[in-house]
Amino acid sequence: MADAILEVRELSVEYLTRGEPAHAVEKVSFDLAPGEFLGIVGESGCGKSTLLFAIAQLLSPPAEISTGEVVFKGRNMVQMTDRQLRTVRWKDYSVVMQSAMNALNPVKSIAAQFADAMEAHGTRSKATITARSKEVLALVGIDPVHLESFPHQLSGGMRQRAMIAMALLFSPELVVMDEPTSALDVVAQRSLMVQIKELQRELGFAVIFVTHDMSLVSHFSDRLVVMYAGQIAELGPTDEVFDDPLHPYTIGLLEAFPSIYGPKVHLEGVPGSPPDLSALPSGCHFHPRCAKATPLCSSVEPALYTIGDRHVRCLLHQGDGTRGE
Ligand SMILES: Nc1ncnc2c1ncn2[C@@H]1O[C@H](COP(=O)(O)OP(=O)(O)OP(=O)(O)O)[C@@H](O)[C@H]1O
Ligand SMILES: [Mg+2]
Repeated sequence: MADAILEVRELSVEYLTRGEPAHAVEKVSFDLAPGEFLGIVGESGCGKSTLLFAIAQLLSPPAEISTGEVVFKGRNMVQMTDRQLRTVRWKDYSVVMQSAMNALNPVKSIAAQFADAMEAHGTRSKATITARSKEVLALVGIDPVHLESFPHQLSGGMRQRAMIAMALLFSPELVVMDEPTSALDVVAQRSLMVQIKELQRELGFAVIFVTHDMSLVSHFSDRLVVMYAGQIAELGPTDEVFDDPLHPYTIGLLEAFPSIYGPKVHLEGVPGSPPDLSALPSGCHFHPRCAKATPLCSSVEPALYTIGDRHVRCLLHQGDGTRGE
């Protein structure tokens, strides 16, 4: 992608704990276009948050980027010093976490936290800070009177909105979000999703959105990454992945999350549980749980095969991309 805003190249992350390292992210590569909405889905423990933190350069020990690049607007952030990162983080890209209650400071008003963030990036004028704070709160549908509120005085949905408002203070070009709606009830979750999508359309920033809920991103993301055991199992345009999933794991995930509009189906899901990332199975990491596994799958590690604008890591699709060409 020539005009990509973000290029993730062969990115690997290990947790260096006692014993074997856990390979939480393994050679993940993808591009993100300006204004694109990319969903990342997968079961708990498959490395979604680790990948997001690695992209945002927020990992701390025992996690370590072992290989790869995260090229944001042409610069490899893996090589940047903390000082260099501080000039891009928050301004050019921002991060929204799962729980605003943990991310927001409980003893400071929303106004004070927004002011801290703006002052840290060189905005001195009190009038500018107040005006911008009101503006971003209005963007997420919160009355500016709540600038004086403390986090505990807001509902869960409002706190998440306040976090998103804070992430938009500097009009970043990329916002990465780690399950920002998962602490909310289904109705609040849905309305926040709609709002994120509207903001994204209006302001034009790109989004990387992590969730374990495929149905949540189905209507909102342009492309979808399905992660399994630290790797990309499948990547493609969201509607194509939903209409015609290629990887047996994607098929299983879709059976586990039926469309609320579709007919009732028996939930097959995916039997078993994800592997220990410090003792991965040989061959295809998914083969022990795969209904379609052949003897080859336990010995040959599949590459990520490209079929048009889709990618799938499954031996069943080896050669599909070249067939008939
Ligand atoms: N602090 C840690 N120390 C050691 N290993 C860790 C640590 N945090 C995560 N891991 C390893 O990294 C793997 C991926 O964790 P990660 O939090 O990225 O998964 P996730 O896909 O975000 O899961 P969830 O859906 O539950 O949020 C874990 O299964 C675990 O093996
Ligand atoms: Mg996570």
